[in-house]
Amino acid sequence: MSLLTDKFGRPMKDLRISVIDRCNFRCTYCMPKEIFGRDFAFMPKEQLLSFEEIERLARNFIALGVQKIRLTGGEPLLRRDLPLLIKKLTAIKGLEDIGLTTNGSLLALMAQKLKDAGLKRVNVSLDALNSELFKSINDSGVGPERVLMGIQKAKEVGLEVKVNMVVKKEMNEQEIIPMAKYFREQGITLRYIEFMDVGQSNSWDFSKVITKKEIFEKLSKHFELVAVDPAYLGEVAKRYRYKGSGSEVGFITSVSASFCSTCTRARIAADGKMYTCLFASNGFDFRELLRSDKSDEEIQSAIMNIWGNRIDRYSDERTEESTKNKKKIEMSYIGG
Ligand code: GTP
Ligand code: 5AD
Ligand code: SF4
Ligand code: SF4
Repeated sequence: MSLLTDKFGRPMKDLRISVIDRCNFRCTYCMPKEIFGRDFAFMPKEQLLSFEEIERLARNFIALGVQKIRLTGGEPLLRRDLPLLIKKLTAIKGLEDIGLTTNGSLLALMAQKLKDAGLKRVNVSLDALNSELFKSINDSGVGPERVLMGIQKAKEVGLEVKVNMVVKKEMNEQEIIPMAKYFREQGITLRYIEFMDVGQSNSWDFSKVITKKEIFEKLSKHFELVAVDPAYLGEVAKRYRYKGSGSEVGFITSVSASFCSTCTRARIAADGKMYTCLFASNGFDFRELLRSDKSDEEIQSAIMNIWGNRIDRYSDERTEESTKNKKKIEMSYIGG
């Protein structure tokens, strides 16, 4: 099979599928309550792709070269019967890896079922260990203990676990070192994520970004870090190992050092729209195709057309203007 590449020669290798636009957290930098309040119109159920539709779409992406799927949300564990979907997806020939990105609040409950369904890896978001601070960030009363229990359980059942921490100025910089110490000890990779200008709701401003360089300098006062090669071409995190330990730490530097040149990720929102960038404004409606009498060939030809014409490199080109005025989809809608 000839490799499907975009206008800059980037192959389509990963598919991030959002399975639901709802979340039980209201992280202030993602779904602030003022916007995502009681009246917010989430997708009605009939607009979500069904598991059969997701499976069919995924099969067609895999036929065109996708090797890895990551399920996201909102919070993907809120989607009813999610393990059933994972079972369907892991049965597709050609899929090499399947992961899930979650806020961890329901993970203790779900870990065994997820593992049994064939899930390999979970990335769990946790922005602070301090209970009051964590509650104030997620704005929904959930303490870090519950997420840590989820992480523990996921490890116990044999899932590979990484932790994501969004670092934002005046929000949680004081947690950088405590988080490093805790997860180094646990042998779990912690990844610091630079606060990104995704969506329109999170009041992003460059002055709120803490860059990898600043975090690295803080860490270097406590630990000696040794660079590690990427696990795969296009890995978003820059990886380091703590000298004298097997534990790793990573940085996701969308703002200070963009990684568009190796971006191999396609994204599908829960309503079946395909996006070729996290910062896109418009998507292509696959739900309509799936719900008409189109053949798999026609679906594949639509995917090939979209990926073949892809020119996205938002983070490479980010400007003051684009951070403020470009229309962008929300993080909770596209799943990061
Ligand atoms: P692994 O398979 O474990 O490497 O997962 P991942 O790091 O690709 O996925 P995860 O959902 O854990 O994402 C971590 C952070 O990286 C989130 O904040 C994502 O929004 C961000 N991220 C992932 N892919 C991209 C991308 O293509 N562009 C940008 N700008 N950010 C991304
Ligand atoms: N910038 C960076 N990361 C973000 N996330 C959510 N919003 C942002 C943002 N504006 C993170 C979540 C989760 C991952 C999918 O994206 O905390 O770890
Ligand atoms: Fe927080 Fe993730 Fe939910 Fe956004 S989707 S509110 S970052 S838990
Ligand atoms: Fe890929 Fe867009 Fe992120 Fe660049 S900004 S790495 S093109 S998703």
